[in-house]
Amino acid sequence: MTHKFKSVPVKSSEITPYSQYLSRRDFLKAAGIVGGAALLAACAPSVTESTVPESEASAIPGGKADELRDPANSYEDITNYNNYYEFTTDKEGVARLAQKFNPKPWTVEVYGLVNKPKTYGIEDLLSRFTQEERIYRLRCVEAWSMVIPWTGFTLASLLKEVEPTSDAKYVRFETVYRPEEMPGQKSPFYPWPYQEGLRLDEALHDLTILATGLYGQPMPNQNGAPIRLVVPWKYGFKSIKSITKIELVAEQPTTLWSMVGPNEYGFYSNVNPEVPHPRWSQATERRIGEFGRRPTLMFNGYAEEVAHLYAGMDLSVYY
Ligand code: MTE
Repeated sequence: MTHKFKSVPVKSSEITPYSQYLSRRDFLKAAGIVGGAALLAACAPSVTESTVPESEASAIPGGKADELRDPANSYEDITNYNNYYEFTTDKEGVARLAQKFNPKPWTVEVYGLVNKPKTYGIEDLLSRFTQEERIYRLRCVEAWSMVIPWTGFTLASLLKEVEPTSDAKYVRFETVYRPEEMPGQKSPFYPWPYQEGLRLDEALHDLTILATGLYGQPMPNQNGAPIRLVVPWKYGFKSIKSITKIELVAEQPTTLWSMVGPNEYGFYSNVNPEVPHPRWSQATERRIGEFGRRPTLMFNGYAEEVAHLYAGMDLSVYY
């Protein structure tokens, strides 16, 4: 199968050390480029792109972009406008509250219906699996979106190692539970820990990744350090953050959002502009950094790669 999306292996020598990245930011700040730039982004996308570390410049003129040639959002946008209810429901407050979270040491337990269950340390995952860059659109169910240059590896490569048995039909994911570090987990309104699930064939699809960083930097806490799922053709809430458990199961697993709102957040949750959320339209979206709205694309623009997974399903019912 040929893929339109961009996948670029990242050599560790190419990853900008964070200190160097910061010093480049200081330089840009001194030049008046960083800060305030987001407001101007819609008129002058190249201004936001200039916050990208120099070593990250891609072959596309003007900086990083997805395969539809839409520019990546800035590091600042991606790390300061977040949904992470374990910290707070205030998107602009997550970054600050998440600073106290300590993602080291970290293990991910992969178990259930597999021949070779294994608990991986995060260092194992970073060294065993080739880290590559994937520039994906992220479309939140709330109708905002961003373009994010993730680094990570395919979930398929990890699942192959543990050898799912023939009874395994779904994959269940769980976020860490640490109410002392995650103040939102003290809220009784949500059934913690956050859980999500995929059908096994969705989990094995080459677009599905476990992301360990963005813009060539380790994953920031507010984006789901040290490792999170990214499933770009589904609404953003399927892309569960700070994963500690991956379980292969026979039955469709329950998910946090389907427990909270069974009529609003289904198991599949594929991006579909034709099926409105019960409380708002999904036909258009607000790309962070742009004025106005743009049309939402079927399967978030990945229909060519994934539509076959749902052949024969009524997509207006299996939301
Ligand atoms: N994962 C956990 N554990 N907790 C959350 O609240 N929010 C989801 C998803 N993963 C969430 C989560 C939602 S609604 C979205 S849109 C994306 O994370 C946002 O990812 P970002 O903050 O990296 O843009």
